[in-house]
Amino acid sequence: MKVRNIELRNFRNYDKLQLSLDSDNLVFLGNNAQGKTNLLEAIYYASTLRSFRTNDDFQLVLFDKEFCKINLQIERMNEIKNLQVIVSENGKYIVLDGLPIKKFSDFIGEINAVLFTPNDLKQFYTSPKDRRKFIDIELGKISSKYLNQLLVFQKLLKERNAYLKVKKFDKEYFDILTEQLVNVEVEIMTSRATFFKLIEKYANDIYKKISDDGNLLTITYDSSVEIDDIKVMREKLLSKYKNSFEREREIGMTLISCNREDFDMYLNGKKVIDYASQGQKRSCILALKLGLLEIIKLKINEYPIILLDDVLSELDEIHRRNLFECIPDGVQVFVTATDIHIDEILKDTKYFRVEHGQVYKED
Ligand SMILES: Nc1ncnc2c1ncn2[C@@H]1O[C@H](COP(=O)(O)OP(=O)(O)OP(=O)(O)O)[C@@H](O)[C@H]1O
Ligand SMILES: [Mg+2]
Repeated sequence: MKVRNIELRNFRNYDKLQLSLDSDNLVFLGNNAQGKTNLLEAIYYASTLRSFRTNDDFQLVLFDKEFCKINLQIERMNEIKNLQVIVSENGKYIVLDGLPIKKFSDFIGEINAVLFTPNDLKQFYTSPKDRRKFIDIELGKISSKYLNQLLVFQKLLKERNAYLKVKKFDKEYFDILTEQLVNVEVEIMTSRATFFKLIEKYANDIYKKISDDGNLLTITYDSSVEIDDIKVMREKLLSKYKNSFEREREIGMTLISCNREDFDMYLNGKKVIDYASQGQKRSCILALKLGLLEIIKLKINEYPIILLDDVLSELDEIHRRNLFECIPDGVQVFVTATDIHIDEILKDTKYFRVEHGQVYKED
C-alpha cells in the first residue's frame, strides 16, 4: 500500500497542505520544530485513529481553530481509496470513500503504518503501559476481531469494577459478569499468544541481519494464565478470580485481568531490559517492528508503509544500512531527519524540505 496524496487542514502547525507523493522513498528534511513529526503524526492518525504523542485529540487542531482535517489518498492493490478524518471538540468524524464510518474498527488499518520513533527505547524498556498499548494497537490494526474483543472486554471490566463497589451485592449476577469477562479474556490471550509466536519467528531472523552479533532473540508473552486449551484456560482464570474475590470486593476493583499483561524480549536467554547494550536494545525494537511488517503482509497480503521519525540519526552507518536492507522492496518509507542524505542506501529517493508548516519538493 502507498500514500499517494496528503491534504491537511489546521493540523498541528499545518494551516493548509497538499502534497502528492509519487515515490516509495520519501525523505523530509528540516530544522527542529518545522512540522516533520507532525506530518508523520497525521498519517499515523489516519492509520490508527490515535496519535503517538497525545491522548487528547484536540491537541492536533491548529491553535485557535475549531477542527482539523486529514485527507489521504491511498493505493491498495491497484485501487485508490480516500480516507478522511475530521477532529473537533465533539470528537472524530470519519469518512471512507465518501461514506461516513461509524465503527472505528471498520476504518483502522485501511492505511497500515508501522512507526519508528526515538521514543521507542523508552516506551519498550521503561513503560509496561506502553508495551501493552503496543500490543493492542498493532494487533488491532490487523484484526478487527481483536479490536472488538477489546471493546467487549473494556465494557465488561468497567461494569464489573462498578459492581464490585455496590452495597446490595448479588453474587449470582456478579458470577455471570465474571464468566463473561473470562470468556473474552481467554479469546484475547489466545490472539495475543498467536501474535507473539509469529512476531518472534520473524523478529529473530531480522535481528540476526540487523545486529550481526550472533545472538538469538526470543520474545515471551506473560499471559495471566498459561496458554492452553480454551476450556482449561477458562477454568484456571475463573479459579484465579474466585481466589481473589474477597480482596477485590474489599478494594472495589478487578485485580487480575488481561489488561495487566506484558511481554519480554531476551537475547540468548538474557533479559534485554537488564543486560543488553543500548545498541542491542534498539536493534531488538527494530527487529520487532520489522517483524510486524511481515505479519501484516501475512494478514492482509500487502506490506504496510513505514514511518521513520528521526531514527536514522541515532544509528551508525552500518546499522542504518542494515535497517534499510531489511526493509522489503516496494515498501513505502517516510523518513524524517534534520540533515541526513540516504541516496546511496535507498534508490529512487525524493527529498522534501519542511519549513514552518509548509513542505517543498527538493530537486
Ligand atoms: N496544535 C498546534 N497548533 C499549532 N502548532 C502546533 C500545534 N501542535 C504543535 N505545534 C507546533 O508544531 C511545530 C512543529 O512540530 P514537529 O514536532 O512536527 O517538529 P519537527 O519538525 O519534527 O521538529 P524536530 O526536528 O525538533 O523533531 C512545533 O513548533 C510545535 O509547537
Ligand atoms: Mg520531530
